[in-house]
Amino acid sequence: MLRKATRKANKANCKIELLHDDASVMHLVDSNQYDWILSTFLCCVMPDEFQPMALEQFSRVLKPGGKFRLLEMVYSKNRRIRRRQDFFSSFVEKVYGARFDRKTAQYIEESAELEITSKRFLKDDVYLLIEGIRKG
Ligand SMILES: C[S@@+](CC[C@H](N)C(=O)[O-])C[C@H]1O[C@@H](n2cnc3c(N)ncnc32)[C@H](O)[C@@H]1O
Repeated sequence: MLRKATRKANKANCKIELLHDDASVMHLVDSNQYDWILSTFLCCVMPDEFQPMALEQFSRVLKPGGKFRLLEMVYSKNRRIRRRQDFFSSFVEKVYGARFDRKTAQYIEESAELEITSKRFLKDDVYLLIEGIRKG
C-alpha cells in the first residue's frame, strides 16, 4: 500500500507527506493537526478491541470541527448477498483479516468526541459510508 501511495504521491501536483504508523497509536502525529480523516476499509480489518483506540486517535489528531469519512465493508441487508457473504466470511477473515460484522459505527456513537453526521449504505448495502465530525 505504501509503495502504491508513494507512486501516486510522486505524481501528485501538491506536496504529500506519507507516514507509516499504527492507526490505533499514531505516535508520529501531533494532536489537532487535520481538517479531514479519510479511511477506506481500515476498520473492517481492525479487531474490535483496537477500534475504540483508533477512533480516539482520529479524534485526537483532528482539529475541533474536523471531519471524517470512513468507508467500510459490512453485511448486506439483501438476503441473497448476505448468504454469499456468510459463505465467504471465514475466507475473507483468514486472507484479509476483514469481517462484515465490525461495530465501527457503534464505537463512534459511544465516543465522547466524535459525532456521526451521516451513515449511508452503498452498492447493495455491502459498503457503509460513515461521515462525521469531531465535536468542539
Ligand atoms: C483492506 S486494506 C485497505 C487498503 C486501502 N485503504 C484501500 O482502500 O485500498 C486494509 C489496510 O489497513 C491497514 N491496517 C490494518 N490495521 C492497521 C492499523 N492498526 N494501523 C494502520 N493501518 C492498518 C492494512 O495494512 C491494509 O493496508
